[in-house]
Amino acid sequence: MLVSATEMLQKAKAGHYAVGQFNINNLEWTKAILLTAQENNSPVILGVSEGAGKYMGGYDVVVGMVNGLIKDQNITVPVALHLDHGSYEHCYKCIEAGFSSVMFDGSHYPIEENVAKTTELVAAAHEKGISIEAEVGSIGGEEDGVVGMGECADPNECKAIADLGIDFLAAGIGNIHGKYPANWQGLSFETLDAIQKLTGDMPLVLHGGTGIPTEMIQKAISLGVAKINVNTECQLSFAAATRKYIEAGKDLEGKGFDPRKLLAPGFEAIKATVKEKMEIFGSIGKA
Ligand code: 13P
Repeated sequence: MLVSATEMLQKAKAGHYAVGQFNINNLEWTKAILLTAQENNSPVILGVSEGAGKYMGGYDVVVGMVNGLIKDQNITVPVALHLDHGSYEHCYKCIEAGFSSVMFDGSHYPIEENVAKTTELVAAAHEKGISIEAEVGSIGGEEDGVVGMGECADPNECKAIADLGIDFLAAGIGNIHGKYPANWQGLSFETLDAIQKLTGDMPLVLHGGTGIPTEMIQKAISLGVAKINVNTECQLSFAAATRKYIEAGKDLEGKGFDPRKLLAPGFEAIKATVKEKMEIFGSIGKA
C-alpha cells in the first residue's frame, strides 16, 4: 500500500539520514527501484514529473502500475508515490488519481502567490492524507523543459512557506538538476543552516542529487536534509549499460533483441545506482 511521505521523512530527519526520491519513467525503472528498496529494507519515494506522467500514459496508468507492482512483487517497505515539481493544476490531478504525495512548485510565482496557492493545496492534500512538498528559490538547470537559474532561497521566505502546514520543504541552496558544471560553486551550507534554524523540525529536500559529492551529501543531511531527489544518475547508468550491450553486438546474438534481454542490463544498472545512493543517504535497514 502506498503511504504518504510525512512519517518516513520525519523519522529520517530525527534519525539523521535521508530517504531517496528516485524518478520513474516506465515499468523497468519502477520495478528496479521498488525491488532495490525491498532488498535493502529501505523506505523509498517514487518521483513522477509531469512529463514522465504524460509519457507513461497518464497518472491513472502510473498509479495502477505502482500499486500493482507493490502487490504482485510483495513490496512491504514504505513507498510514497510523489508528483515532482507539480503545477497547481497537476497537483489536483494527482491528488484525484491516487498519488500519496505531491510537490507544488510555486517557486516561479511572487512569494504572496506561492503562499496563497500552497495554502490551498495543503488543505486539499491533507484532506486525503496526502503529503505535500513546497519549494522556495528555484533549483538550477533544466528538467522537463522547466529551466531554473539556481539561486539560494531566502530563509525568511522558507519560514513563511514552512508555516503553512506543508510536510517538507525544497529550498534552493545552489543545487542544480542534471550534471553539475565544472565551475559549480557547491552547495551553500550557510543558507541551509539558516533555513534549518528558522524551520526547526521541518524535513528539508535536496533536489539535483545527481553528482553531488558524498561529503556534501552527508553535511547536508547533518543540517536537516531528509529527502534527496535523484533522476539523471539513473538515466545515465541505464543508458551506459544499454550502450555497452548494443556495442558488444549482444542484441544480434540469438534472441538478444528480445526487449526483456535488451533492457535487462539497464535494469540492473538502475538497481546498482539506487543501492549506492541508499547507502550514501543512510536509509538502508530503516524501513
Ligand atoms: P537530478 O536529475 O539532478 O538527479 O535531479 C533530480 C531532481 O531533483 C528531481 O526533482
